[in-house]
Amino acid sequence: MSGSERVVVARRLPGAGLDLLAERFEVLVGEVPLDREALLRRVRGAAAIVADPTVPVDAALLDAAGPALRVVANFAVGYDNVDLAACRERGVVVTNTPDVLTNATAELAVALMLAAARRLGEGERMLRGGEWTGWEPEQLLGRELSGATVGIVGLGRIGTRVAELLRGFEPELLYTARSARPEAEQRLGLERSDLASLVGRADFVTLHAPLTPDTRHLVDAALLERFKPGAVLVNTARGGLVDTRALVGALRSDRLAAAGLDVFEHEPEVEPELLELDNVVLLPHLGSATATARDAMARLVAENVIAVLAGKPALTPVSR
Ligand code: GLV
Repeated sequence: MSGSERVVVARRLPGAGLDLLAERFEVLVGEVPLDREALLRRVRGAAAIVADPTVPVDAALLDAAGPALRVVANFAVGYDNVDLAACRERGVVVTNTPDVLTNATAELAVALMLAAARRLGEGERMLRGGEWTGWEPEQLLGRELSGATVGIVGLGRIGTRVAELLRGFEPELLYTARSARPEAEQRLGLERSDLASLVGRADFVTLHAPLTPDTRHLVDAALLERFKPGAVLVNTARGGLVDTRALVGALRSDRLAAAGLDVFEHEPEVEPELLELDNVVLLPHLGSATATARDAMARLVAENVIAVLAGKPALTPVSR
């Protein structure tokens, strides 16, 4: 610690970023799970706050920090936990960690497509539960990804990477996006679609949209009614994109064959109905959880803080 400016890490930050910060600033690290009251006390006088998806960055937190606060660096690409308007009003820059987690998250989406379609969770539970009595001709039959129609909802960085990774499966690829992506269409053989037609045609639907007031419950009961019967839904984006009650209904009625979920509406709570269903693979928000991605994210968080506190532009500011 050499500088006098204070950086408050709300919970934890991998060493790859923490060390960069500790060389330059006074760094206060928080606790897991988050103690909101302790955080409100700790941020007083902070020039920077390092947050993550579990840390609500609202007016109360910003005011507890006070006028020295110049940057909130979110250790995540998504920033629905941050009140951008409140930050803007106080002249606080907000940054996120795009690009460096794109591949890790896209790989997890593909893993969930395969896991849900090939019933890997069910198989593992059967085996670990001592219920496997041997190979059977019609045991746990699933469906194949090869040649399937895959609908990518949101063709941003991660959605595009999913399309790239899927090429070997020779799928038919549909996507939704606010504007057309002719380069990606040509390079990856993608076809743009509206959401209702996409879900009506796709065997696999994978969500890659940010959570905003407009996208909350994008997948609701009405849309689920329009899904191709027997489709597989994968969500590695944000739990709030899906109306969980409606999803449970669709999974129970076999409208959907299966789902693969890495994110939930009220994390870390997982709706008990989901836990009771066999045709859903559930993961504890692991999208970017590789050492490569998390180290790069931590470095980018630190570089953003260092830049802003040096009076330079942030590397990856959030703009919306
Ligand atoms: C994680 O959820 C992220 O948004 O990076």
